[in-house]
Amino acid sequence: MTIHIGARPDQIAETVLMPGDPYRARWAAETFLQGAELVNEVRGMLGFTGTYKGNRVTIQGSGMGMPSLSIYANELISTYNAQTLIRIGSCGGMQPHVAVRDVIIAMSATTITSPSSGIFREVNFAPTAHYDLLAAAVTAAKAKGTRTHVGGIYSSDVFYAERPDLDEQMVRHGILGVEMEAAELYTLAARHKRRALAILTVSDHLQTGEALPAEDREQTFGDMVEIALDAAFA
Ligand code: HPA
Repeated sequence: MTIHIGARPDQIAETVLMPGDPYRARWAAETFLQGAELVNEVRGMLGFTGTYKGNRVTIQGSGMGMPSLSIYANELISTYNAQTLIRIGSCGGMQPHVAVRDVIIAMSATTITSPSSGIFREVNFAPTAHYDLLAAAVTAAKAKGTRTHVGGIYSSDVFYAERPDLDEQMVRHGILGVEMEAAELYTLAARHKRRALAILTVSDHLQTGEALPAEDREQTFGDMVEIALDAAFA
């Protein structure tokens, strides 16, 4: 057990999917895993372990934002020896060709700051996905026929942004979408030599103002979960 995860060491799989929302963890585990068992409920941050096509997998909520994700990812890596960590979440679309419901596979995650920035001092470290996982996710998404984009995303510290000029620079530099967790996940995976990837569903769009209705989210989210599971065990 760790401070924030109540599971026994043997209850967490080497492969962990991490949605921000703990209820999404429960939905994904009940929908896609066989024999899903609740392994964590400390602070309501639900985690489940089961199997997918015979492979053991844990789906553990990360909470919102890099500080929260950093707590769970650190404990999963250091105490539970997680080897493959895949964020499954939502993001805001930032390019005209990126539509609501599309999936984004994040090659890199730009930040202003992250919980790890302090250790890099003047260096702007480039948080990057694990290539094999990324390639496997692209293959899985193509096989499903999901509309998918691969490229850079922006991991922000704020949902309610006060810097339109900053969004403008992200858009200008081809950033596909904005979310709040991937950069720290990629940085922790690099530090501990683990595999990490973020796969995101576009739930809203910064330019068009369009937002995915709640009832549509489940199906789109499901495609992303299956892409993540197929990539993890490719
Ligand atoms: N901003 C930040 N995070 C997000 C957004 C957004 O617009 N949409 C979904 N996650």
